[in-house]
Amino acid sequence: MKAVVTGVAGFIGSHLAERLIKEGMEVVGVDAFLPYYSPKQKEANIASLKDQPRFRLIKANLLSIDLETLLSDVDLVFHMAAQPGVRASWGHNFKEYARNNLEATQELLEAARGKGLTKFIHASSSSVYGEVQKLPISETDPLRPVSPYGVTKLAAEKLCQVYAANFSVPVTMLRFFTVFGPRQRPDMAIHRFIVAAIKEEPIEIFGDGSQTRDFTYVADVVEACLLAAQADSGIGPYNIGGGSRVAIKDLVALIEKVLDTQVKIEFLKRQPGDVSHTHSDTQRAREQLGFKPQFDLEEGLFEEAAWLRSQLG
Ligand code: NAD
Ligand code: UGA
Repeated sequence: MKAVVTGVAGFIGSHLAERLIKEGMEVVGVDAFLPYYSPKQKEANIASLKDQPRFRLIKANLLSIDLETLLSDVDLVFHMAAQPGVRASWGHNFKEYARNNLEATQELLEAARGKGLTKFIHASSSSVYGEVQKLPISETDPLRPVSPYGVTKLAAEKLCQVYAANFSVPVTMLRFFTVFGPRQRPDMAIHRFIVAAIKEEPIEIFGDGSQTRDFTYVADVVEACLLAAQADSGIGPYNIGGGSRVAIKDLVALIEKVLDTQVKIEFLKRQPGDVSHTHSDTQRAREQLGFKPQFDLEEGLFEEAAWLRSQLG
């Protein structure tokens, strides 16, 4: 089996590619090394992959390469590439979101037409739901994104739907809920909180910390991608979440426990685009894909803290 992983040098894409190689697949990874965060971290993310004979890296933007050739002899596409980050998606930054989340997705879907792919797994996001009226959130709930990022992720889903309906591109859409673990992006809460705790600096909470998130361990997300690639499933979408939720101020207490330390908290203004709560109902993914998260928050925090300690020296 041959797979293309877009966004391979990113947080989720690098873990996914490692797992696919372990499963015996040939992997072609594409990444533009966008400077949203340090390209050095991205190089480190794929350091072990580069030694693998069944791995090939294409260091380029999806919008600047021949996608017809890229997809000419592959079985699976895992489309993880995107400009992520909810709070940074306002203002002039939006151009990057439109280009990488919409235009690049459309070009990849276009190239996927008629290629005989087995599956095209698309990384979507809980941000498509926005402010919700009920918890847990199921896939049939209203889609009302509250950030420009969420708008692009919802529009990308719509593109997936029209390419699936008109040209039978075998898309399955997975809506990931706030993913964490080693290599987590440096803009995300758990990464920032653990670094602050290790450096004995204050942890910055946006708002009063009562907002809640369904944190999902990266190995569970990777497993969901593999299950979706194998399943005889339709387009979905499928919620992929850890299945429990925690308030951000309680997350800080758990980080104190895991690191065996005490931290100071600074409360800052709530950020535009942030949703109040997420909590995934994963029944559909459980029934149709066989998805069952294996890692709880505390275990995952240990793993991410160990990785961050090794990074900070
Ligand atoms: P990431 O930024 O670490 O990885 C994405 C990678 O894609 C980056 O390395 C970037 O350089 C690359 N990329 C972006 N646009 C590209 C393009 N046009 N051509 C080539 N490469 C390009 O982000 P992540 O956290 O690993 O997210 C992966 C996917 O999962 C994204 O689609 C994101 O929207 C989705 N997602 C992430 C989370 C999360 O909590 N991390 C939650 C929900 C959904
Ligand atoms: C995350 C990812 O960043 C998005 O790419 C993804 O699409 C989204 O999950 C998703 O589930 O769809 P977010 O939930 O904002 O977005 O994840 P974090 O950055 O970990 O933030 C979680 C909460 O902590 C937010 O309420 C945020 O405001 C808060 N936070 C974050 C702080 O209080 N302080 C910080 O320093 C960082």
